[in-house]
Amino acid sequence: MINFNYQNKTKIIFGKGQHKGIGALIKPYSNKILLHYGGGSIKKSGIYDEVIASLKAENIEIIELAGVKPNPRLTLVREGIELCRKNDINFILAVGGGSVIDSSKAISMGVSYPSDVWQLFETGKKPVSALNIGTILTIPAAGSESSGNSVITNEEKQLKIGYGSELLKPVFSVINPEICLTLPHNQMANGVSDMMSHIMERYFTNTLHTDVIDGLCESVLRTIMKNGRTLNKNLGNYDAWAEICLGGNIAHNGLLGVGRDQDWACHAMEHELSAIYDIPHGAGLAILTPFWMRYVCHDNMNMFLQFAVNVMGVEGGFRDQEEIVMEGINRLEAFYKELSLPTTLVEVKIDKTNLEIMAKKAAGNREIGGLKILKWQDVLNIYQLAL
Ligand code: NZQ
Ligand code: ZN
Repeated sequence: MINFNYQNKTKIIFGKGQHKGIGALIKPYSNKILLHYGGGSIKKSGIYDEVIASLKAENIEIIELAGVKPNPRLTLVREGIELCRKNDINFILAVGGGSVIDSSKAISMGVSYPSDVWQLFETGKKPVSALNIGTILTIPAAGSESSGNSVITNEEKQLKIGYGSELLKPVFSVINPEICLTLPHNQMANGVSDMMSHIMERYFTNTLHTDVIDGLCESVLRTIMKNGRTLNKNLGNYDAWAEICLGGNIAHNGLLGVGRDQDWACHAMEHELSAIYDIPHGAGLAILTPFWMRYVCHDNMNMFLQFAVNVMGVEGGFRDQEEIVMEGINRLEAFYKELSLPTTLVEVKIDKTNLEIMAKKAAGNREIGGLKILKWQDVLNIYQLAL
């Protein structure tokens, strides 16, 4: 195990009806907020009206910015920054999923930054400061409700870049699994895939003596798969959503990465797919992860053996290591198929045209990965396998 410091400042307010108390939660921070949300699901479900009522009950002034798209765009971030500056806003309430929360985070650090906020994404420079953010999560997936990350798409440059800073962690996040009951099947599946990836990116490591976190990762992965299967048959099961919501939060609140080197190659490779083809992040991960596994597993067979046995429930003798590992990977891919997720690039209409460009964007100027270091040629090989 390697040395670590761990802290997560985001307070989680979990359970039925919790979003109705949003006004009182914000009051200690601000009397005037930017309310940021997406394309309208919160209006259809009635969450919007309940949030407005609670904010009004606390006399909180509301400036609204709607229209965040999945794979959130820089243009709207810039608009939000201007709106906050003009109205002297010091708190952002994000009501939505990863895209809305990430857009809010980018706005929050752009307000005090003297130049264009995209510079922070390109350079990784520290922001001067960031406005406080609170969130009401509407889709368990990205884990942005407890992370310090923001992933933004620069639509002009066809670049999708992630940025991380402790300053971006929300001060609180409300997670009410009831809100998930309106999610369509494909968003449930995308979310399950993304949260599983957040665990696997941390789980697959060459660091030794990591038993506590290995065990936690395995347990959360099994729980997400079990409850994902329940939702696959019945999207109206509150208890399964509650497990998925908590699993998705733990997957990305940092705890499962302590004391170990992490990998993150699949995320780096996936962001290039979303940047050019605008596919859902979770779908891209479902395609790439099994191919990444087959490409890198021989560099640490023990880790993949442990995954196959402890997560995927594969049985076999000591002589069958290769077979057990491959069966574990095949079962993961079969699980994605069970959830109707795509498992090849062709299924999401990606052909070989841009594979080399994407590989160079992912790993042209740097190496990615941890368990196995990947250069751009490796990334190209994985993309080609995934066709
Ligand atoms: O826009 P609306 O109308 O709200 O519809 C959304 C959107 O179309 C819909 N939706 C959300 N809640 C709903 C609902 N529909 C019905 N009922 C509800 N309760 O779902 C669609 C997808 O929303 P989105 O926010 O894009 O999903 P997700 O949470 O998966 O976020 C994906 C983004 O997060 C980034 C991804 O790259 C991607 O851009 N990530 C952010 C991370 C972070 N900040 O830590 C880490 C992740 O690895 C990921 O990269
Ligand atoms: Zn992700």
